[in-house]
Amino acid sequence: MPDHSPAAPRLPFPETGAAWTALQETLQQAKENDVDWRAGRLAVYTYYRDDALLQVAQDAYGLYFNENALGKRAFPSLARLERELVEMGLSLFQAPPGAGGVFTSGGTESIFLAVCAARNARPVPGRPNIVCCETLHATFNKAAMFLGVDVIRTPMTAEFRADPAALAAAIDENTVMIGASAPGYAHGVFDPVAEISALAARHGLWLHVDACIGGFLNPFWPEAVPDFDFRVAGVTSLSADLHKYGYAAKGASLLLLRDAALKRHHSFDFDGWPRGAYATETFSGSRPAGSIAAAWAVVNHLGRDGYAENARLIHDAKAQLVAGIEAIPGLRVIRPSDLCMLLYTAEDPAIDLDALAERLGARGWFVGRNMKPKAIHLALNTVHAATVGPYLADLAAAVAEVRAGALRGVEDRRTY
Ligand SMILES: Cc1ncc(COP(=O)(O)O)c(C=O)c1O
Repeated sequence: MPDHSPAAPRLPFPETGAAWTALQETLQQAKENDVDWRAGRLAVYTYYRDDALLQVAQDAYGLYFNENALGKRAFPSLARLERELVEMGLSLFQAPPGAGGVFTSGGTESIFLAVCAARNARPVPGRPNIVCCETLHATFNKAAMFLGVDVIRTPMTAEFRADPAALAAAIDENTVMIGASAPGYAHGVFDPVAEISALAARHGLWLHVDACIGGFLNPFWPEAVPDFDFRVAGVTSLSADLHKYGYAAKGASLLLLRDAALKRHHSFDFDGWPRGAYATETFSGSRPAGSIAAAWAVVNHLGRDGYAENARLIHDAKAQLVAGIEAIPGLRVIRPSDLCMLLYTAEDPAIDLDALAERLGARGWFVGRNMKPKAIHLALNTVHAATVGPYLADLAAAVAEVRAGALRGVEDRRTY
């Protein structure tokens, strides 16, 4: 590994070009110590079904590698692919006629645009705010930071869900949006969207449903949660990430709106510079066309059948893991979890959870940790169907190591 410490001499800009073969080798070596997602060694950040599906995404991405989705007149096929992705999303989430949406670079951009639109659609006397449960994804605060909005987070219930009464009490004259999780990333549980929708309707408020993680999984899940999409009358907008359980290439999400006309509240249109009119519906200017083509290809390649098969694989892996973890004395699976999340903790004080996470790490597993409640966190995807056995074997061995050495670990709060 090169020395990148502050004391090391700064890397010079390359004087002459190097051959791709040499660079490829460098890249391959550089990756050697990264976590092996193909082997299911991590349950966060990446989603992987198999090489055949990956090839579909890569080939489609490659076909559009150099196009730019800013240029819809130059590349009308991209406008068509985006339109089709939005329409398929509107169908999946049962949106009424007149609904619309945009293809974005990810959950963060979809949520940014929703917060921007809610803020612009509703002028308020003071600094605007969003009301939500404490479980809503951190990126709402990020959007709020950029957009000059406050986020008021109310306590979760014992089931990790939003409490509609607490939300109601937090709403004031400056509230522009209620945010709901479907489900939240931390615990994998759904907020009571129907009840929250009634609250939003009573106050005439924008309700955004964050289905970034669950949007392309819940509709296919054996025990799908029914009331989370546009069938719930008060849902104004919904975000669903194609680059998560849609299995598309990174840089792919949908922001869907009950009324296509609401797009004007997050669109930008400017003609005050020498080059002429500049108009975009999303945050980015130049945009990768490959992620649009890859998402289009993967959705059409999998179809409902493929997504249902993926959901079944995850559902079965989760059931096996739950049974296996509960069979290890001293560990407890945290409930409820409505979808793909699996959280477990140690109820025996002889097992320090941070030490357990570290021992699992030493065995080559990338460990996600949850802070409230303190738990080991797995966001399972199809790749984990093949790793249940090795994971449980290493977990049992790691528990034994922690017990035998009375090990104590260090808390690690990072999710990034
Ligand atoms: C529920 C939820 N919302 C939003 C996001 C943010 O999505 P992204 O990382 O694609 O910006 C995530 C990411 O995991 C998520 O799980």
